Amino acid sequence: MPCPDFTKYHDKSIRQRCIFSTIWLLLLCTSTIIMAFKTSISPIRWENDQLVLLDQRFLPARLDDYVCDTLEQAAQGIADLVVRGAPAIGITAAYAVYLGYRQHLEDSSYDLDAALKQLESARPTAVNLAWAVREQQRLLDSTSGDASQALLNNAQRIHQQDFTDNIRMGDYAAELIEPGSSVLTHCNAGALATAGYGTALGVIRSAFAQHKLDQVFASETRPWMQGLRLTAWELAADNIPVTLIIEGAASSLFARQQIDWVIVGADRICANGDVINKVGTANLALLARHYGVKFMVTAPTSTIDMHTANGADVEIENRSAQEILGENYAGNEKVTAWNPVFDVTDADWVNAIVTEKGVILQPDRENIRQQMES
Ligand code: MRU
Repeated sequence: MPCPDFTKYHDKSIRQRCIFSTIWLLLLCTSTIIMAFKTSISPIRWENDQLVLLDQRFLPARLDDYVCDTLEQAAQGIADLVVRGAPAIGITAAYAVYLGYRQHLEDSSYDLDAALKQLESARPTAVNLAWAVREQQRLLDSTSGDASQALLNNAQRIHQQDFTDNIRMGDYAAELIEPGSSVLTHCNAGALATAGYGTALGVIRSAFAQHKLDQVFASETRPWMQGLRLTAWELAADNIPVTLIIEGAASSLFARQQIDWVIVGADRICANGDVINKVGTANLALLARHYGVKFMVTAPTSTIDMHTANGADVEIENRSAQEILGENYAGNEKVTAWNPVFDVTDADWVNAIVTEKGVILQPDRENIRQQMES
């Protein structure tokens, strides 16, 4: 940032005001940079020729690593929620394709095509997984000879790009937030769900650094408790105070407190703006409409699926009943559980979608297409 020339200001009060505003601006920029630096919780690392995932199953109790030498280990890690959140799943998949290619070079009988299909089916809803596999596959098809280095470079590029995109999204979205706002987020769309910084939590980090947030609420997010275990952990680590609610308390929260925005990430955004995100998101969007609370979705353009017309066409992942029942009713066939882990939020219920390319207000097929083509 160029340093202003104060000598041209002869009036002392103007000079003082100018010095104050410059100091204020410097402090603001520094705090944003410090926030960005401080929040580099890294759920995914490439170290010593291995893919290292921070094992999110044990957070916040333990910081354990899950190390992958093979595509299959990475695919299992995605399926078991060692790593989760659409962008983080995509980055992991990009590295996994490289690992699979390496396995194929070592053993020519290794069926890479079948392995890639297995990888893609590890979690069907988050579109970043298929997107990352497709990006790597395209590179593979266009490279003659040994594609190892190109695949690894591309995975690292996807990884770094996601981090930069998050910072950009945070800055765009923070412009929509008025000083003194209170916000609610759902699940975990934070550093842990991305390369670092986060989509929804990236917005919260940027807005907090700009002193715009009075209160941050997070819903615990049953049954896996991403809100309780991951979001609260991340925010507390960054000294951002957070109040947890159970999902069932959202209506009471909106009725009693002035909540300005619900801010969530997305696992997939369809061509018409329908948003697929953690189950419970659609409930929040409907309640938000009822109470006049604005609803924001932040996601990189890699989460926008222009090939899927609307939410009705998306396969919603169902996970095991065991995640809900736990040890209860073991062996009792009369009690079971239904566990869809995502739901569809109608585009009409969304006030803004924010990507690394900018803000889309009142999303629809046309303004989404325009941004994707920009
Ligand atoms: O099942 P998960 O934990 O992978 O689901 C992740 C989400 O749905 C998050 O809410 C998030 O918004 C999408 S990824 C940033």
